[in-house]
Amino acid sequence: MLLHIPNVLDAATLAHCTALLKQADWTDGRVTAGSQAATVKNNRQLPETSPVAQQLRALVLEALSKNPTFFSAALPKRIYPPLFNRYGDEANSFGNHVDNAIRTHPATAQHVRTDLSFTLFLNNPTDYDGGELIIEDGMGGRAVKLPAGHLILYPSYSVHRVEPVTRGARLACFTWLESMVREPQRRELLHEMDLSIAALRGEHGETDTAVRLTSCYHNLMRMWATV
Ligand code: NI
Repeated sequence: MLLHIPNVLDAATLAHCTALLKQADWTDGRVTAGSQAATVKNNRQLPETSPVAQQLRALVLEALSKNPTFFSAALPKRIYPPLFNRYGDEANSFGNHVDNAIRTHPATAQHVRTDLSFTLFLNNPTDYDGGELIIEDGMGGRAVKLPAGHLILYPSYSVHRVEPVTRGARLACFTWLESMVREPQRRELLHEMDLSIAALRGEHGETDTAVRLTSCYHNLMRMWATV
């Protein structure tokens, strides 16, 4: 499942991020790539421990924690501390790759199984040419290029790439997460059920049917979730 979640960052948070990104000191993006990915990765990243990255990370995690759609779709158990990248000038693309199955955070040694990846766009498509995130789907790939503050959630097992940026610079936040529900079909079913229950409540208010379906949702979660 690919899920576009709009307006993860509100205007004030986005302005704060933009101001922080102006102070960014970018470094070679290959530091966090696996061995296959490193051969096709050509971009810049913020060092994980830089003060700017830490402030940006806190803003993004705070925004995600308040986003019910993100929670419902991802059911996050562990989120690898978000990273920040820049595509532009000579360091402008990332060829086809898959994300490593396990990421181990260098500072905490905590392992994160990568069930889902996300890219949160931090500047607008009018700022650059190219830079589409292409997620292979067996039909030539799905191109994703979203407004600033919008997020795309996609399966970490997918083959994906970032097309060369030929004008300007593309700024984004990205990371991986381990879900409480490992199997994509179960996770997607729970998300669909959650949306449907919310719609039912919106249309008919609190009814016995809504309560019973909510009970089913939570009982499925009990069967399938590991925390
Ligand atoms: Ni990737």
